[in-house]
Amino acid sequence: MRPYVYLGIILFCLHTANSLRCAKCVSKKGNCNETEVEVCSSYQDACFFEVKDFIGVSGTTVKRGCTTANYCRRYPGGYKGHLDRTMYCCSSDLCEPVDYHHSHTGAENGMVCQSCIGNEAECGQNAWSEPCHGNADRCIQISQRFLPGEELEPIIKGCGDSSFRDTLVAYQIGKDFAYIEQNVCGLRNCNNRSFPDISPGQPNGLKCYTCRETGKGECDRERLQLLNCTGIMDRCVHIISKDRDVPTTIQKGCATETMCTSYSDIYYKLMRQDSYPACCKKSFCNRAGDHSGPEMLLAVAGVVLWLALMAGK
Ligand SMILES: *[C@@H]1O[C@H](CO)[C@@H](O)[C@H](O)[C@H]1NC(C)=O
Ligand SMILES: *[C@@H]1O[C@H](CO)[C@@H](O)[C@H](O)[C@H]1NC(C)=O
Ligand SMILES: *[C@@H]1O[C@H](CO)[C@@H](O)[C@H](O)[C@H]1NC(C)=O
Repeated sequence: MRPYVYLGIILFCLHTANSLRCAKCVSKKGNCNETEVEVCSSYQDACFFEVKDFIGVSGTTVKRGCTTANYCRRYPGGYKGHLDRTMYCCSSDLCEPVDYHHSHTGAENGMVCQSCIGNEAECGQNAWSEPCHGNADRCIQISQRFLPGEELEPIIKGCGDSSFRDTLVAYQIGKDFAYIEQNVCGLRNCNNRSFPDISPGQPNGLKCYTCRETGKGECDRERLQLLNCTGIMDRCVHIISKDRDVPTTIQKGCATETMCTSYSDIYYKLMRQDSYPACCKKSFCNRAGDHSGPEMLLAVAGVVLWLALMAGK
């Protein structure tokens, strides 16, 4: 038995000696301390350094740890609305993939807010606090529940200026309920909540068409499903791609009025910039595919014909 035990110990030592180690922490500036180190698993061959920013909210967050070089290559970085994410990677022991410095604009203004971007564990009630700078003298908390497959960063906290407003945008696409809640407050660390639990509520009488296009024609007219709207979702919505060549419906469902009235604000900041929502009030009013669809063309043709007739009189 003995030789096997020794062999086992030797293999174990070789294995740990070969294991990559990476700094591991979630912080503001990206400096993990010496004790915050992760021994990577055998399949992890890279250390990551992820920087998350949200325009207008001082919640800059750096997350570090072990990953795979393959994930680094496939990382979906860049802007999604006002959220910007970048990942740097390197593959040697305790390596530093980037020389990162975080800077502020303006002097400290006396306000202090919880600041972070991430999930409930990273950015919940016990998130770290930071002094605010310049004219950003409010504490902001933005919480989002996403449609399946659209998940990004559920919580964004930080200092922001007076342009932020309390807003709740809720929408239901098929059986999926999603929302964006933005809260603004003016006391030190008042953005200290965890994730809010907002429920869709009871049927409110409005009925809308619903679909979610995945490229298989789910939003074709004849395939639309019906949805009973609930709670404060008192508008039918359709979300249209901005792609000029093919303006197509991406989603239909029920929504709060804020989904459309705050379009330039919350939807633009938090959702894709390649689409926009259009709302209407009456049951089944969101049947038409998009504004340049056949119905609209027919209407335009009608007006032209009418004008021609009037001119002829
Ligand atoms: C390093 O970080 C750990 C975990 O966050 C913390 O418990 C510890 O006090 C820190 N050590 C130093 C020297 O800052
Ligand atoms: C959150 O902040 C408010 C206002 O500053 C304070 O009254 C409350 O005690 C805080 N809650 C927690 C859990 O820290
Ligand atoms: C919607 O509500 C109607 C009653 O108004 C009900 O008959 C129908 O089954 C509901 N549809 C769904 C999909 O729940």
